[in-house]
Amino acid sequence: MRLETERLVLRLPDRDDLDGYAEVFGDPKVMKSLGSEPKTREETLTWIERKRWHWERYGIGLFSLIRKSDERLLGRTGFLMWDPERWISAMRADLEGELETEIGWTLGSEHWGHGYATEAAVACRDWALGELGLTRLVSVIAPGNIGSIRVAEKIGETLEREDLPAPFPQRVDLYSLGKLPAR
Ligand SMILES: CC(C)(COP(=O)(O)OP(=O)(O)OC[C@H]1O[C@@H](n2cnc3c(N)ncnc32)[C@H](O)[C@@H]1OP(=O)(O)O)[C@@H](O)C(=O)NCCC(=O)NCCS
Repeated sequence: MRLETERLVLRLPDRDDLDGYAEVFGDPKVMKSLGSEPKTREETLTWIERKRWHWERYGIGLFSLIRKSDERLLGRTGFLMWDPERWISAMRADLEGELETEIGWTLGSEHWGHGYATEAAVACRDWALGELGLTRLVSVIAPGNIGSIRVAEKIGETLEREDLPAPFPQRVDLYSLGKLPAR
């Protein structure tokens, strides 16, 4: 799977992305926004493998963002499945049944503020709603993460629910586009 925008190529994460991701996930500034501690190279490699598993398991997943001008890995954007009751993601458990599809974004801090997250997220949203025929996307975002909330709003998401019952130390809210399924 591969998507392309004006400045970016979005492709599946690969073991060769380890150096690039080690920089992104080793950055305390990035990880603080995600409510987590910096990751080691070993943890980052496990993460890449889990992401590849996610694509195989659910036919959707996170893309590596590669800047066309210099082939630099800027971060990730794409999809992650969630259990809509417990708010546990498929990065932590092998989920089954009716799941929510999250659209998410993370860039290395030196690349913030250039419109890359929005550019990548628009391409991902259009692919999911178009080619995949999805009718709903969500984003799980901490209330203080203004940059992330702005990206969510720019792709057409609005605040749906505050303070999800998710197993995180910080409060998270649910942004969405499309209709809430009947459950
Ligand atoms: C959130 C994140 C992906 C945004 O990436 P980005 O490429 O800088 O975003 P964009 O440049 O596309 O900006 C989108 C909008 O948000 C605004 N914005 C971005 N960061 C902002 C910030 N820290 N404060 C206020 N506004 C911000 C931009 O000005 C832009 O709005 P505008 O077009 O109306 O001016 C990036 O900050 C990041 O990776 N953060 C750490 C990881 C993270 O928090 N991920 C999300 C978890 S829910």
